[in-house]
Amino acid sequence: MLDHTLPLLAQGYAWLPDLTRRKGPGPVRTRLMGKPAIALRGPEAVPFFYDEKHVRRRAALPEPVLSTLFGKGAVHTLDGEEHRERKAMFVSVLKDATAVTALAERVAEEWERAGKEWADRSHVTLFDEVSLLITRAVCAWAGVPLTRHPGAEHPDGEHPHAEHPDDRHPDNEAARTAHDLVAMVDGFATAGPRHWKARRARKRQEERLARLIEDIRSPGHEASDPPSVAEAVAAHREADGRLLDPRTAAVELLNVLRPTVAVTWFTVFGAHALHRHPDLRERLATEGEGYARAFAHEVRRFYPFAPFVAGLAPSDLDWHGERIAEGSMILLDLYGQNHDPGLWEAPYTFDPERFAGREPGRDELVPQGGGDASAGHRCPGEDVTLAVLTTLLPRLARLEYRVPEQDLRIPLHRVPTRPRSGFVITDVRAPA
Ligand code: HEM
Repeated sequence: MLDHTLPLLAQGYAWLPDLTRRKGPGPVRTRLMGKPAIALRGPEAVPFFYDEKHVRRRAALPEPVLSTLFGKGAVHTLDGEEHRERKAMFVSVLKDATAVTALAERVAEEWERAGKEWADRSHVTLFDEVSLLITRAVCAWAGVPLTRHPGAEHPDGEHPHAEHPDDRHPDNEAARTAHDLVAMVDGFATAGPRHWKARRARKRQEERLARLIEDIRSPGHEASDPPSVAEAVAAHREADGRLLDPRTAAVELLNVLRPTVAVTWFTVFGAHALHRHPDLRERLATEGEGYARAFAHEVRRFYPFAPFVAGLAPSDLDWHGERIAEGSMILLDLYGQNHDPGLWEAPYTFDPERFAGREPGRDELVPQGGGDASAGHRCPGEDVTLAVLTTLLPRLARLEYRVPEQDLRIPLHRVPTRPRSGFVITDVRAPA
């Protein structure tokens, strides 16, 4: 069988759905990175995939993905007891409703602050602005200062020089951090310059945050009450009672900051949806939490972000009569499941009504993985994602602006993708 690593890189989001269409019903078999691979999808496949007897994560992720997106030693790569202990740290911070609300409030404040400036500008690129405002909010919330560390080298290797006061200037720490957090996501699935930018961004941020962890652990540190996310990570002990080494702690702190900033992608997709469906604007602007949540779920279902998740079979397995050999790669086709016509009526129509008055089933809507977030590898950040989206999207719907002629295509071969122009708006008027 042909190895499909290259078609995957070339076709992106269309690769697995295309294979599925060509091969007909049932799981798709292929080869990836030199290994036999099988792709599953559907609410029945989700518990199979998230059962540790069937799928292990250690050694499943390629080095280029670890050196950009997740970081070496990240929770994503752990199994068993080690995973459960580390995961508990994320769950305690990210599933705490008070903490999530506090983050949403900071995001709202940053939106108001930024929005006031947009009126004076000839045009605003929403992607850049939203990534900056979420960076400011999540860093303040997590206890990560956005000022340059006194010992830090200038990013270009020059002597450190004064920080620029304008937080949109590349020589300002907020702007640089926002760029780095975006770059790590943007460059994980390509071999080109975006990838090298992502590696440099990760290295810089890991070094910066490892110093912060050391500062927090030093005797002179004044603890906050309640402890910040950075302090919680600094104090976390593994199953063997040891603290995380500063670099791994930095990796895990980045595993909170980076994906929160990644909600920028969904926010800009939300702007795209509003542009394509202006009839939905009024309801999103005025109807409150229920409709905003349905809209956010539909953005997460409809638009392409995480294509699939993958792990390795630890022994020979059987999936409904299909033999899966030990060492095979098992994929859960997230994008395919979110667009499966057997699960969703008119899957390629954007329609928040499908979530009106109901929450999706646990293993039905899977943009951030499936199963139980505490027990398995499901994303622990769904509450944060929904809180940020339900904060930003109704505010966007209430903002007056024009969408000038631009390239709004969302190329499916690019992973991760986004509207090509970054979604430019002009003539911005904040609501009275
Ligand atoms: C895991 C998607 C936001 C933190 C994951 C996984 C996916 C995902 C697909 C892997 C699930 C698996 O391996 O089975 C997304 C998307 C987001 C998002 C599309 C929206 C932008 C967040 C946020 C946070 C977060 C806001 C934290 C604040 C994590 C962590 C893991 C994870 C720590 C690793 C979990 C584990 O391995 O046990 N996410 N996520 N994510 N996500 Fe998210």
